[in-house]
Amino acid sequence: MPRLITLSRAARLVGVKRGALQKKIRKGELRTFEGEILLTDLLHSYPRAEVEDTSMLERVEQIMEQAVNKIVRPANGAPDSGALAARILALSQELATARHEARRLAGVINGLQAQFDMLGAGATLPDDAFSTLKQWLEKALATEAEDELETDELFAQEVFLRVMAAQVRILPSGHEFLIEGSDSILEAGLRSGLALAYGCSNGNCGKCKAKLVSGQIKKISQHDYVLTEAEKGLGYFLTCSCTAVTDVVLEADEALGSQDIPQQNIDIRVRKIDRPDDRVVILQAKTPRTNRLRFLAGQYLSLKIDDLPPRDCSISSCPCDDMNLQFQVPVITGDRFTEYLTANTRANVVINIKGPRGDFALNEESPRSLIFIAGNAGFGPIKSLIEHAMALDIAEDIYLAWITTDGNSHYLGNLCRSWDDALDNFHYTALQVENEQPVESLLPEIIGKPDNLDQYDCYVCMPEPLLDPVKSFLTANGVPENQVRMEPLR
Ligand code: FES
Repeated sequence: MPRLITLSRAARLVGVKRGALQKKIRKGELRTFEGEILLTDLLHSYPRAEVEDTSMLERVEQIMEQAVNKIVRPANGAPDSGALAARILALSQELATARHEARRLAGVINGLQAQFDMLGAGATLPDDAFSTLKQWLEKALATEAEDELETDELFAQEVFLRVMAAQVRILPSGHEFLIEGSDSILEAGLRSGLALAYGCSNGNCGKCKAKLVSGQIKKISQHDYVLTEAEKGLGYFLTCSCTAVTDVVLEADEALGSQDIPQQNIDIRVRKIDRPDDRVVILQAKTPRTNRLRFLAGQYLSLKIDDLPPRDCSISSCPCDDMNLQFQVPVITGDRFTEYLTANTRANVVINIKGPRGDFALNEESPRSLIFIAGNAGFGPIKSLIEHAMALDIAEDIYLAWITTDGNSHYLGNLCRSWDDALDNFHYTALQVENEQPVESLLPEIIGKPDNLDQYDCYVCMPEPLLDPVKSFLTANGVPENQVRMEPLR
């Protein structure tokens, strides 16, 4: 029977981005059946060498290792996680071999049936009828169904992946993600870039409540929030306290835009202050475990230290990064907030954050590729958007151009180059404005690369005076105005 699998699983199996599969679907190179694709079509589109890539097993071993650190081992000494993974893989292969043999024998039986029908149709049997039949049977039994072998190997890996990672599908959005190791559904969803509703993330507030539509879940941590019997009866549970045992479908709240994100007021603690150059301070901070910040990638906050005037600043980390927040704060002469930071490079400073605000967020429903243009410390929110786009894994191609003006540096250039090196679909260009050169004169170098600019969404963050010339240039060169999102450097 033809086997259908979801895009997330298919991408994981052959080691490509979901965006790459979606591109093939759009081009008509891969068929879909209600959002799923055939295992055989997948194999046809991707060569066997990629299917045999062992990276999946390595990744699973990594996940298992991490997971073991989080859970309590049974006292009687459960098998080593790596050994268990290897055994499951071996069993999957055995299952695939048995399935292959069953299909081959079914083919022989069908052939035999046809032979008997032929013999039965004759008035008299020829003398050599039985020896001919015997020869046919020997040949049929000796014939390997070669064309099925590769599909069976892929089937074995798919079974393995199904055991190691359950799939979660969220309604009504239809978003889906895989859940691995001992992650809760909430953790896995946030890591996949979804803006799921939550508050404390440890079972106190009830804001992550969701309804199980199908599949099986398991409680992995106790929670203080009390679900009523009626709620339990209807299938409600807390996503921060449960994991998925089988593939599951849930009804859960997701933020679809900034209007769905509540305003928050949280004290965060600075863990690290870096001064990569004279023009920017990088703050690494953490929210309390029980009061994490909900925000959309690209949004900004009001930051306040003690009685200093508050300072608006874009968040440069991804919402998928758990309790960790990063800010790339442009240094402004005379600004007491940045003066304080540059004079006090000690960690542990407490900053009160209010927000988030702003609509400079990714259009997640767009199937188009992405162009990001950052000017100086405008790289902060652009970094947040890029990491979010990577977590969502939907963009076919991502272009980043980072333009710096006099006295500014590409202070996280190594990070951008590492993305470029690691990801086939990521392309980084570092540009420096020389002397009085207008910024827009550098743009042909950026947009000269992709063709069909109407097929791209552009996100630009740079000092305010530079925004209009950049927007005019992009729209004059074919990017529709509604596909350009601009954000002034804060
Ligand atoms: S996020 Fe608060 S109970 Fe789950």
